[in-house]
Amino acid sequence: MKTIEEIANTRFAKDVERGLSLNPKRISSKYFYDKKGDEIFQKIMRLDDYYLTRAEFEIFLNHSSAIVDSLELKSNQIEIIELGAGDATKTLLLIKELSERGLTVIYKPIDISASVLQTTTSKISKHFPEVTVEPITASYEDALGLLQKIPSQSQKLFLFLGSNLGNLNSEEAHEFVLGIAQSMAKDDCFLIGLDKMKNPEVILRAYNDSEGVTSEFNLNLLDRMNRELGTSFDRSLFKHIATYDPGTGTAKSFLVSKKRQSVHLPWCGRDIILEKFESIHTEISQKYNEVLVEEIFAHTGLKRMKYFEDSNEYFRDYLFVKQ
Ligand SMILES: C[S@@+](CC[C@H](N)C(=O)[O-])C[C@H]1O[C@@H](n2cnc3c(N)ncnc32)[C@H](O)[C@@H]1O
Repeated sequence: MKTIEEIANTRFAKDVERGLSLNPKRISSKYFYDKKGDEIFQKIMRLDDYYLTRAEFEIFLNHSSAIVDSLELKSNQIEIIELGAGDATKTLLLIKELSERGLTVIYKPIDISASVLQTTTSKISKHFPEVTVEPITASYEDALGLLQKIPSQSQKLFLFLGSNLGNLNSEEAHEFVLGIAQSMAKDDCFLIGLDKMKNPEVILRAYNDSEGVTSEFNLNLLDRMNRELGTSFDRSLFKHIATYDPGTGTAKSFLVSKKRQSVHLPWCGRDIILEKFESIHTEISQKYNEVLVEEIFAHTGLKRMKYFEDSNEYFRDYLFVKQ
């Protein structure tokens, strides 16, 4: 356990103090992913109700060859930079395709979770010893700044899968895509997985599954704050609530306080009051239609080449190229 001064200096503590002082209160979903959160997310990906991973996996299974063809590679070497790589299960299919074509692959997975990156790195190295893996433990915001400073000779493919972009609001998403575009050189490609607007009931079940795993994922954030920041949240006094607005395509998750309560933040000596039914907004998962995709990628200098879709028409991976 860190000292109170060390805790006070972490970005996590600063973000929690600021987020719990806002009205409405909010904490970024990037803090879901500690070791326990990684484990719960692995369970989420296997849920019947959580269609996203299966849909995108199917796209990679059926279209990896077409994706590689569409990259129009200029040499026999490619550098893959994956933002929020997680367990990289889908990326493995793409790496397999590239490897089978005899291409030299350098893989740079970026993730805020050191534990997931460790597992991913060993998995890739085990299956594809010929691939150079250079993991980067950082938030993708920080990592993009870093990458801009390192010149690269190879053609690059940026990956942002799992509809991770949906964790940002439209304005943030546009800024983020602009940041990626600025890290790209001419002919570099960007493959991004985006979840489509669809039957609201299907979407809601993905964020409030019948087995309670998504609820556990959300509540783990309280446990994580207790473990790492020394707070005293009582998870039995909170309820996981998921909503979906079919007008805007925005799914949101909240932790709702079941009663008026006070929570102590030891590193700054403050007590935060939560009223009965007051919420902490913990996640946004935006769903997309063509209009939204066009808006987010407008004026980024990226040209849309193609998209690849699953057989249920739930999910798309869009391929862009830098001009
Ligand atoms: C929803 S999972 C998706 C994982 C993988 N891309 C997939 O499609 O299966 C999100 C991943 O992004 C990471 N992550 C979330 N927010 C992040 C951030 N701001 N910077 C870097 N990684 C982040 C998490 O640790 C987690 O591994």
